[in-house]
Amino acid sequence: WAIHAPYVAAINRLKKERNAVILAHNYMTPEIYHGVADVVGDSLQLAIEATRAEADVIVQCGVHFMAETAKILNPAKTVLMPDMEAGCSLAESITPAGIAEMRARYPGAPVVTYVNTSAAVKAASDICCTSSNAAQIVAAQDSDTVIMTPDKYLAQNVARQVPHKRVVWWDGACIVHERFTAQDLRDFRSYNPETRIIAHPECPPDVVAEADFSGSTSGIIGYVERERPQKAMLVTECSMASNISGALPEVDFVGPCNMCPYMKKITLEKILWSLHAMDGAVEVDAAIAAKARVAVQRMIDLSR
Ligand code: 13P
Ligand code: SF4
Repeated sequence: WAIHAPYVAAINRLKKERNAVILAHNYMTPEIYHGVADVVGDSLQLAIEATRAEADVIVQCGVHFMAETAKILNPAKTVLMPDMEAGCSLAESITPAGIAEMRARYPGAPVVTYVNTSAAVKAASDICCTSSNAAQIVAAQDSDTVIMTPDKYLAQNVARQVPHKRVVWWDGACIVHERFTAQDLRDFRSYNPETRIIAHPECPPDVVAEADFSGSTSGIIGYVERERPQKAMLVTECSMASNISGALPEVDFVGPCNMCPYMKKITLEKILWSLHAMDGAVEVDAAIAAKARVAVQRMIDLSR
């Protein structure tokens, strides 16, 4: 912490001067999560918090689509992204042309798009979803066939939870979660039978099937806080365990995790610079933002 302390102090000072709020995703490193964030959460919580923000400036510590979502919901506010290169393999996997292709393939079917997408893709969709509400959103669609984009694994996991719908999907995947295998989990469990295995729904369905629980990043944190297992394996991004282990000393966090190279682009140094220079303001074309806002707001309204 000693090396982080001057940055943490400077950021917290600048935050007041700029009337800024820092929204941080659960995958941020501990010095961001515990040192400078005003609000931490999963994608849905951060989107909802963005609608409540009273500050003039929102600093989005996460990846680009999260900052775009905050801007879509708050067009009058300045939304700063400390590193514009913090992308997402899912967001990169689809364009509006991909949505049009799916609509042509499944005429009349509603398009439920994961928030891990660009504003233009959201604008071309009917409604958004996150990992915490995807099954609820798909179940609420007034159609037997539902198109889910772009995460094929989230779609396949949702299809199991909503068996009365025919869920069809785009061929996208998260580079962090697609790397876990069911065999890894079985091997790990055979040596550590007492370990509670908790997987994010961006993992392939056979991985999720091996887990004791699956949920959004905040769902995972809530599960561990409630259950307090002796040993827990979080089948997701590495910072999750680092961020919560201090408050849960009785839980031994074990097993492999994967790092998201995009999330890890956000550092204290870059947050400080972006607040100091007001650098990295996210802009979304007004016409695209208006359409994307409808898809995001429909999701928020259905999630209440
Ligand atoms: P959550 O909505 O569960 O926080 O997921 C966001 C994400 O990018 C996971 O890879
Ligand atoms: Fe995208 Fe996966 Fe990184 Fe989440 S963990 S931001 S889905 S690449």
